[in-house]
This record gives sequence, structure tokens and C-alpha cells, in this order.
Amino acid sequence: MGVNEDARGEGAGIPDTAWVAAHPERYGLELSARGATEGGARLGGVALAEIAQAAGTPTYVYDAEGIRQRLARVRSALGSGKGGVPDPLVCFAVKANSALAVLRVLAREGAGADIVSGGELRRALEAGISPQRILFSGVGKTDDEIDAAIAAGIRSINVESSEELQRIMARAGAANKSVPVSLRLNPDVDPETHPYLATGLRQSKFGIPMVQAMELAMRAHRHPNLRLVGLACHIGSQIVDAAPYRESVMHMRRTIGALRDAGVALAQLDLGGGLGVAYRPGEAEIDVAAWGRAVRIETDDLGLQIVVEPGRWLVAECGVLLTRVIGRKRGEGNAFIIVDAAMNDLLRPALYEAYHPIVPARSVDPEAPLTIVDVVGPVCESGDFLALGRAMPAVEPGELLMVLDAGAYGMVMASTYNTRPLPAEVLVDEGRFAVTRPRRSIDALLGDEAIPAWLR
Ligand code: LLP
Repeated sequence: MGVNEDARGEGAGIPDTAWVAAHPERYGLELSARGATEGGARLGGVALAEIAQAAGTPTYVYDAEGIRQRLARVRSALGSGKGGVPDPLVCFAVKANSALAVLRVLAREGAGADIVSGGELRRALEAGISPQRILFSGVGKTDDEIDAAIAAGIRSINVESSEELQRIMARAGAANKSVPVSLRLNPDVDPETHPYLATGLRQSKFGIPMVQAMELAMRAHRHPNLRLVGLACHIGSQIVDAAPYRESVMHMRRTIGALRDAGVALAQLDLGGGLGVAYRPGEAEIDVAAWGRAVRIETDDLGLQIVVEPGRWLVAECGVLLTRVIGRKRGEGNAFIIVDAAMNDLLRPALYEAYHPIVPARSVDPEAPLTIVDVVGPVCESGDFLALGRAMPAVEPGELLMVLDAGAYGMVMASTYNTRPLPAEVLVDEGRFAVTRPRRSIDALLGDEAIPAWLR
């Protein structure tokens, strides 16, 4: 099943071109034709044709202002802290988009970061995110990564198991520091999402089972080199309803209450990320204001600072993958549009059968006939597609296309499969743009590889 294939609402079945033409603001796009040969699609006030000229294709383009606005919407949904409790803290899940330029946009707005590796720690710090706002999640933290997090003085290491707790104790002792930790619990809640994206089910590899929560919490609390600052959970990704969040808070409250009874006061409750976006025309997405209200209703009386870790919701709609049509092909069954972006550049369709709208980067005559095509890349695998059975207007070789909703889990999951250089990245910001990561040459790609001496 594709991600949220069932969650079809009003607009389901509408072709991408009609959908995007009716809702350009949703993607931060201006679509009016401006007489340029490739038409006038603009993102953040910059013509995408100009960006394609400067950076080549495939290229990811991110809209800084769109990201700022979405961060503001999450913050306003969560409101401010009451009765001396600090305001809720939004820690962007860096795994969704780790471009330094994007992280800097968020850092400037005072956002924190949720990281899952030493590499992401480095990126978050490099982008200027305060260590005091960095959380370290992840089911397999190495000793080196734990040491780096301790040295950086981050806000909280989110502990995943009893064994990991033991290792963090040892590393904290070796560093002779008092290290803030939270326990990431597994509340066993079904987020009703794609099976690959559920993380808080009893059988998933993530989090500490609820039955172990008290024992581990007391161990952490009593350890001289640890400070138990909170509890955390993350039940999954691409969640479109507030109900699973309410349910997980309910479970978390039991442990918070039991700890309070045992004389252990916490400072924060981290509810993870997972806010879902609408990828298909008309698909349901989370109502962020309603989600924020639900979180506040369920948590206000706890007197804990609320922390959230959204990734996708902050950036997905603010990113476009630009690709050019290489050619067309008609098989005995299907018609194909072959483009220069492939599964190595955007893996989500191949991995999750995920849907991304694809439209020409020009205005399209609403009356233009549509044909059903597969949009595929040049990689030698049948799983290499960006869209299957999609209704598209006629496109010409060389034409520029936009793959939308590509700002989250796009570039970060890209690879050099088939020895294809990674896509370039561009940030647009209210009429300006910069190539923030140029495409590397094939020479650079081969650069650090060696043939062993005995084979030379
Ligand atoms: N916090 C933790 C501990 C996580 O594991 C994740 C995502 C997040 C926060 C952020 O979740 P978000 O708000 O972005 O849904 N590659 C998949 C998504 C995998 C998400 C993994 N964990 C995709 O392309 O849909």
C-alpha cells in the first residue's frame, strides 16, 4: 500500500496539473507564464528555469520563507508555556533534510534539532543550532557518537534500551560530566500509517517497553553522572490524525505520574514528530492547529515543557526536485517519460510507492489533453520510477518538470547508484537564490577510491 493511499479526500483523482494550478500557494509557487521559453514557474520569487540554468538538473530547490512560515505555524499551534513552564520547543528532525542552508534557516528562527548520528550532530552545530536545543535520538548510538554528544553539551540523549543506558552511564562517567538524558518509551500505539513508517508499535525496534520504564528511569535518576530530564516517544511518521498522539500521551502520563510518586520530577515531555502532509491531490493532512490543541489539552496540567520533533511537515512542501525530460518512449503496454532524476535522487516512490505530484515548470493550458504515462529515470531497475500511471500533459524532450513535496526525505536518501552524482541543492529566499551544494563531477565521485597495489 502507498503512504496513506486510503486517506483520500476532496480532490482525489484530480490530475496533478489541475491540482497544482488551483493551489500554487501551497507549494510556494507562482505559476503565471511570463513569456520565458520554459514558462514562468517561480519558487520564492525566483524563476525555476533560471535555477535549472545555473545548477543543472536534477536539483533540489528549497524555499526558506516557506520553511519559516511552517515553523511559525507549529509554534503557534502549540502556544506558549503556562505558569512558568518554558515555551514548547520545536526540534527539527534533521534526517528529513540535513542541508546546512536549511538548518541555518531554522537555527536563525531559534529552532532546535533532533539528530540520529554523529554526522547530523556535526551538521546541526555547523548550522548554528544551539547544543541546548539538540536531542539525540536513534536506536544504535555508538560510543563515539555518545562521546561527541556529551562533549557538545546537548540538551538530551534519548535512551533507547537498558543496554544503551548502561553505555551512556559509562561514557558520562569517563567524561566526568552530568549528562542529561530522556527515556524514549515505546507506547505501543498504532499510528495508522505505512508499515515502514510506524515506530511505536510493540513489535518495532524503537523505544523502551513500557514495562521497563520505571526501572530504567530510577536507574538513570540515581546515577551520579546522569540527569533524567524527561520522557520521549515517537510513534511514527506521516500521521494525519491527532488521535494517536492523544493516545500516546495517555500512556506516557502513567509513567510520569509513577515517577512523580517516586519523587522524580521531570522537566520535559518529548512527543516526537510524525506530522503528516498531503502528497496526493486532495489527500488528508494533519490539522496542525487541532493537533497542537490536543497536545496542550492532554499535557497542560503536567507542568512539563513540551518538545516536538517534526521533520517532514516543516520542509516537504517547501522543496521541489527539478528534472528535465530526456525523452519519451512507448512500450507495448505503457507510455514512458524518461527524466534525468531517478530513484537514486528521490527514493520515496520506489521504496514506499509514495506519490509526488509532477508538473511542467510552465503554466499548462487547463484544456490540454492528458495521457497516462509512467515517469521513470535512467537507472537500470524496474523499480526506478517517480510516478506510475500518471495523467500528464504532453511534454517535450528538454522540458523542465517539477517533482513537488520533495523537501523531506529527498536529498537525504539520495545515493550515487549507477555512478550518478548526487543532485545539486539550491536555497531560494524572497527573490534571491544560492547554489548551496553544487553537483559533484564524476572525477570527484571516483576521487577517493583506489585499486589495490597488487592489481595495478
Ligand atoms: N523523531 C524521530 C525519533 C524519528 O525517528 C523521526 C522519523 C522523526 C522524529 C521525524 O518524523 P517526521 O516528522 O518527519 O515524520 N524516510 C521516510 C520517513 C522516515 C521517518 C523516520 N523517523 C519517508 O520518506 O517517508
